[in-house]
Amino acid sequence: MSPRRKRNAPQTYQQQTIVDLEHQGHGVIKPEGEVLFVEDALPAEVVDVQVIRRKRKHAYAVVTHYHQRAPERVEPFCSHFGLCGGCRWQFLPYAQQLKHKERFVAEIMRRIGGQRDLPFEPILGCEDDRFYRNKLDYSFTDSRWLTREEIEHGEEGIERRGVGFHVRGRFDRVLDIDTCYLQPEPSNEIRRAVRDYTIERGYSYYNPHSHEGWLRSLVVRTGTSGSVMVTVVFGNEDEPQQREALFDMIESTFPSVVSINYVINSTVNDALAPHQVHHARGQDHIIEQCDHLQLRIHPRSFYQTNARQAERLYRLVADWADLDGSQVVWDLYCGIGSIALYLASRARGVWGVESVVEAIDNAVENAKLNEIENVLFSAGDVKDALRNPPAEAGNPGLLVVDPPRAGLHPSVVQSIVNASVPRIIYVSCNPATQARDLQLLSERYQALRCRPVDMFPHTHHIESVVELKLR
Ligand SMILES: C[S@@+](CC[C@H](N)C(=O)[O-])C[C@H]1O[C@@H](n2cnc3c(N)ncnc32)[C@H](O)[C@@H]1O
Repeated sequence: MSPRRKRNAPQTYQQQTIVDLEHQGHGVIKPEGEVLFVEDALPAEVVDVQVIRRKRKHAYAVVTHYHQRAPERVEPFCSHFGLCGGCRWQFLPYAQQLKHKERFVAEIMRRIGGQRDLPFEPILGCEDDRFYRNKLDYSFTDSRWLTREEIEHGEEGIERRGVGFHVRGRFDRVLDIDTCYLQPEPSNEIRRAVRDYTIERGYSYYNPHSHEGWLRSLVVRTGTSGSVMVTVVFGNEDEPQQREALFDMIESTFPSVVSINYVINSTVNDALAPHQVHHARGQDHIIEQCDHLQLRIHPRSFYQTNARQAERLYRLVADWADLDGSQVVWDLYCGIGSIALYLASRARGVWGVESVVEAIDNAVENAKLNEIENVLFSAGDVKDALRNPPAEAGNPGLLVVDPPRAGLHPSVVQSIVNASVPRIIYVSCNPATQARDLQLLSERYQALRCRPVDMFPHTHHIESVVELKLR
């Protein structure tokens, strides 16, 4: 049906049938040769849409009316669904989400990686599709997003401070969250207690436009052992007594909080990396149990946010690695060394490389904690480390690579090809760049099998593991 459009009015299309779900999770329609990605739309649904953003080859649209809904569509379980930027696939049952993710990975491997005959093992889904995260970062705002009812009833007298997550697509708008289903308790309880305590006492909350306000964010980390770490980010150092009083309240209300830390960030940028973490109460770390390993996690440490599924991912890597104690393994992009430490008991030795110095400090510390001696960790860029590996790193029989979303740097691909390591296990959080790298490696390496692993239920994100062998 042709678009109806008055001059300057947003473009709309009526009665469109969704023909596909693309890998970022949008429904696809193709009216009059255009390609539109539609939010919250499933294949076979019939919808009216309004275009909200145009790109060179496609446009984004939102549904203004559903004429027909897909039979598999379910009611989202979270009251914040739709406005909150997270968990956007709640309208699909988890089993269906896994099917779509499995298909996306296969399509990407074929289309981008040229992998026509790659055997796939079934996607490894999560046992728990709720409360699976071990870390959440809540934002404070002095001008929280108001619901339509609140606006209709008049804004006067309404408390505008709130703590929660950004509204979809809005860096400057935060939704006050009541119950979030991502992290186990006491995450919601801590956030609510901090909000109530600080609002009652008139503490000021951050404003992203004026960059004024004292409370900026609250990071809650829950360990598998039940211990909890809290880190509060303040906009300035002005109120040490209020700060200590807040920590007293957290400490006395939540006995499971074993570590309290804080950061002063007076810059306009939200990134925490450049700022010092001050240790305030209890320990400066929490302990994560990852199968046979104990991992000490500091406020700055990167650790897989779905700890239970990380164990299953590492078990898969160990299973495919099939080590008998005689091989040397190189773990490239090793983070805090969790894969290296996980494999060490079955390897002759493991060399881990990672660019974040603190992560390497954690890796060394965790090797000691677990009495693992056959590991060597180096801080640095993988591309430099591979050009000049230390003699103690040995001669690898297996490479494990787990790069960030951008995938392998071309010079890393070249070094791997030159080194002719017999086998590679490539773990990726972005199958598109992984597929590109498989293509680049394909002259020397044959991909043997692929297994998608879901770490983030209710989102379109998917991890993919591929085993390669030297031709
Ligand atoms: C996906 S994480 C992998 C972490 C680890 N394998 C794990 O399971 O916890 C990617 C890691 O690569 C690191 N990194 C990013 N670019 C790098 C580079 N050029 N050289 C070395 N490490 C890098 C990041 O700091 C991050 O720790």
